[in-house]
Order: sequence, then structure tokens, then C-alpha cells
Amino acid sequence: MALNRLKQGFWVACGVTLVAGIAWAQHDMKHGDEHKGHHAEAHGKGSAHAHDFGPDTRELVKYPAKMREHTLAGMRDHLKAIQEIQAALSRDQFDAAAEVAEQRLGMSSLGRHGAAESSKVMPAGMAAIGTQMHRAASQFAVVARDASATGDLKATLKALSHVTAQCVACHAAYKLQ
Ligand code: HEC
Repeated sequence: MALNRLKQGFWVACGVTLVAGIAWAQHDMKHGDEHKGHHAEAHGKGSAHAHDFGPDTRELVKYPAKMREHTLAGMRDHLKAIQEIQAALSRDQFDAAAEVAEQRLGMSSLGRHGAAESSKVMPAGMAAIGTQMHRAASQFAVVARDASATGDLKATLKALSHVTAQCVACHAAYKLQ
């Protein structure tokens, strides 16, 4: 008896879910365009070009094969460093975040990346963004060390966004061959 009730309840619930699902799908079809409009507007307010993949206007930079391989491996380490910094910040490990930033992205990382070599091949604009990234990372390290005393997480996020702004700027302007 109780089992039957349970079964009945189950099928009623299924029916309701199904009807609700169909109603929602119809609603979505009817208002599809309207929804798209809202999305576009929402994105437009935040980051203007988030959905706007225009033509690829990046300057093609020719690197010797070995240097290209080395550079891309360095890039993957940059991304890993950013991830490690975020993880450290989320645990209030400000000194650890500072250390990763300085050693892997900051001015102290210049020797490790063979920067002198590749800066000969880079266009001046690209090298300038690279230098700016190293500076921003070292600046982040200072802000993060301060935060270990003040606990000012917001300041570290702001400083970190100045680092990633340089990743974005360079990626928007240059690609490798
Ligand atoms: C001075 C220029 C410059 C800066 C600064 C820069 N990158 Fe790059 N990065 C490049 C170029 C050029 C490529 C190759 C893109 C292409 O050819 O399509 C690249 C590729 C990458 C790749 C792909 C690697 C692969 O294996 O293909 C990752 C990941 C990456 N960058 C992460 C980062 C992160 C994270 C930062 C900032 C912390 C950063 N980059 C800063 C120029 C830069």
C-alpha cells in the first residue's frame, strides 16, 4: 500500500516535471531572440568584446623553432603560476603567493626564461609588454607581502589583475610562428 502510494507519487512528479519542461522549452523558443538580446547587453556592459571574436589581427612573430617551443613551455608555466598564486591567496598564504610571483613571473624570473635571447627576436612593443608583466608581478609580490601584515586581500587581487592585464594585452596583439 505504502509502496503503491510512493509509486503513484513518483509518476505524478514525473508528469509535472515533464509538463514543466515542455512549458519551459516553449517559453525558451518563443523568447529565444529576446534572451539573446539580454545576454548581449549584459556582456556589453561588463567586457565589451567578450563575445566579439572579430578577425585575427595579431601580428605574427617569427621565432626559431627551439625558441618557440621554449617560449610556449614558459607560457604554460606562467598560467600554472597564476593558478598557484590564486590558490595561495585563497588560503591567506600571502608570502607564498609573493614568492611564486617574484620567482616565476617577476623581475627575478628574467634569467630563467632566456629573456635576453628572445627580446632580440621580439618586436619592441611585445618586449615592452613583457617587461611590464615582469614589473607588475614584482609589484604584486610587494603588495602580497604587505597583505601578510594587513590581510588586505582586495589589494592583492587588484595587483594580480595588473599582471594578467599584461597577459591579455600581449595575447591580443601577437602570435608566434
Ligand atoms: C610579451 C607577450 C606575452 C605575455 C606578457 C604573455 N604571453 Fe602568453 N603567449 C604569448 C604568445 C605570442 C603566445 C602564442 C600565441 C599564438 O601563437 O597563438 C602565448 C601563448 C600562451 C599560452 C599557450 C601555450 C601553448 O602551449 O600553446 C599560454 C597558456 C599563455 N600564453 C599564458 C600566459 C599567461 C598566463 C601570461 C601572463 C601571466 C602570459 N601568457 C603572458 C605572448 C605573451
